[in-house]
Amino acid sequence: MLSEGPVEAAPAIVPSEEGWTSPVQRAMLPDMPPTPDLPLVLRQLDAAAMRSRTLAATRAALFDAAFTLLGCHRAACMLAPVNSDGAWSMVIREHDGSTTERAEIPSPAMLFGRPGLASAPWTGEAWALGSIWPSRDADAAVAAWPIEVEEETLAVLVVQWPEGGTTTAERAADGRQLAEHAALPFGTVLRFEELEAVGTGAMRAVARMVDAVSPWTMGRSERVAAWAVELGRRLGLSRRDLRHLELGGLVHDIGKLGIPTAVLDKVGPLTTAERDLIRSHPDLGVQRLAAIPGFAPLLPMVRHHHELLDGSGYPLGLKDDEIPLLVRILTVADVFDAMRSDRAYRPGLDTDALIGVLRSGSGSRFDARVVEVLLALIEEGWEP
Ligand SMILES: [Fe+2]
Repeated sequence: MLSEGPVEAAPAIVPSEEGWTSPVQRAMLPDMPPTPDLPLVLRQLDAAAMRSRTLAATRAALFDAAFTLLGCHRAACMLAPVNSDGAWSMVIREHDGSTTERAEIPSPAMLFGRPGLASAPWTGEAWALGSIWPSRDADAAVAAWPIEVEEETLAVLVVQWPEGGTTTAERAADGRQLAEHAALPFGTVLRFEELEAVGTGAMRAVARMVDAVSPWTMGRSERVAAWAVELGRRLGLSRRDLRHLELGGLVHDIGKLGIPTAVLDKVGPLTTAERDLIRSHPDLGVQRLAAIPGFAPLLPMVRHHHELLDGSGYPLGLKDDEIPLLVRILTVADVFDAMRSDRAYRPGLDTDALIGVLRSGSGSRFDARVVEVLLALIEEGWEP
């Protein structure tokens, strides 16, 4: 027979001066250390943000820090628009690791009912965040801190505690420190991405100028760059190498600027002088780019994108491993796009013929691993 003694009341989930340490809270958040160490968490945030300077990685590190330090079970990062006409966006992460992205959310300044966020943290209940917040746990405690650089709010960290929980002065202070600490990595990565976008935009403008020398090459450099990046991505290249591939793809034919269209698009056999002129475009490209700081990693792609593994390419007739991997990738992307495109002097090849050329050149003229990946991309119908 079962005992009918008094039922032991479940321990309350309440914050204490030491943090969230009740047995129930630990059971709900088994990964949370009983006494989070603020300096340690902030160091971990720094280290994670340094490892991968991307917005996604920095945001993920901020979420990790919020879960560890604040004991929340939901965290969100609202991100300010890049320009004044844009809308805020938000990524929400649940304690189980699942994430939700929301575009076009209202400005948090409006949500909080005041023009600025300078006096944050804002604390309240989840329902006050309205339709942008998941509707469950409407009574749960929520707090938000702005992530600010030079008096500009770049992002807002929002956290929600388990139902029945509330924030404490200690947690509010920890959240403020976390948001203040996140300002440096967020500011750095957002500025970096902004500069990268400006740089890519400028390179795309150059690519369009290069391709506009002939109606037959419109959009070509951007397509070659996109194919090269996808090949490199599937070959497992680093983010830095992929960036170089993208830029190298965009400017690889810059040496063609200045070569007469009548020669580039000539129908019929080229004279020796005309052939030499066309074959000078890699060196001309290097001459144009060599003086620009930061372009050094692109120069091998500009100079050698017509080299072939068997030594039959130009300008130097390099062979096999003398040709760097990024160049070998770009060469395959370049040849592939050229073969499938119509020209003044010949129509583009159909898919079967393209596959035949790639297979016959695999391992002899073209890098076999790169060709293998390209054939898989063709098979799945991938297009930029
Ligand atoms: Fe070229």
